[in-house]
Amino acid sequence: MTLKLGVNIDHVATLRQARRAHYPDPLDAGAIALSAGADFVVVHLRKDQRHINQKDVADLCKLFPKQIHLECSCSDFAEAVALKYKPHSVCIVPELPGEITTTGGLNFTPVVQKRLLKMIEKLHKKNILVSLFVNPTAADLRIAAKLGADIVELCTAAYSQASSKKEAQKRLQELALAAFLAQELGLKVHAGHGLNYHNVLAVADIGGIKCMNIGFAIIARSLFTGLPSAVEEMKNLL
Ligand code: PXP
Repeated sequence: MTLKLGVNIDHVATLRQARRAHYPDPLDAGAIALSAGADFVVVHLRKDQRHINQKDVADLCKLFPKQIHLECSCSDFAEAVALKYKPHSVCIVPELPGEITTTGGLNFTPVVQKRLLKMIEKLHKKNILVSLFVNPTAADLRIAAKLGADIVELCTAAYSQASSKKEAQKRLQELALAAFLAQELGLKVHAGHGLNYHNVLAVADIGGIKCMNIGFAIIARSLFTGLPSAVEEMKNLL
């Protein structure tokens, strides 16, 4: 069975914002990614809206109501946007001040868990599927299941940043165990972060993962090959 591919188009908006221009338009990127074989269009609405902004989310959800996967933090702002524009699914991620990109899975402190529970309930009431971005540990997966998540997205950052083959192997084993446990707990399994054309296959081979969310590598390649070809190539690998 082919894995689903979510194409994160944040960096199309990053380029637009470099000039505060009206193009390149994430809407065009979303349409092209989907027609080239992507299953979902992924956007991360950050609190500072430094790339994707609220209007992008509104327009994308209107145009592709069943294919937008919104990444956002557990905050009043993100919750309000998600409830208003109703993407197909929401992945709740941690957001730290000053970070260049998401640095890992959620830190499930008691305060965070309490807030997550409320946000998950509200999203479910609007029939929005909820994914939690988690580190591949048994403890965090159990918490995600307890909180009522539909999906866990396993953070592949530690694997993609491994400095040796041995470490990469160890990280893959952690991901495989996590994928197994997540399914036992009744969760759907996604994976993503730092994946590219060279390191994605080993993760794709892990049983049970249903969808990979990939952004930077695809948008970077699209500069030289065009977006349709960059998406098709990744989809073919999966
Ligand atoms: N999944 C999550 C939860 C993310 O936060 C990101 C980055 O926005 C990605 C996947 C995609 O990561 P990358 O751009 O490194 O492919």
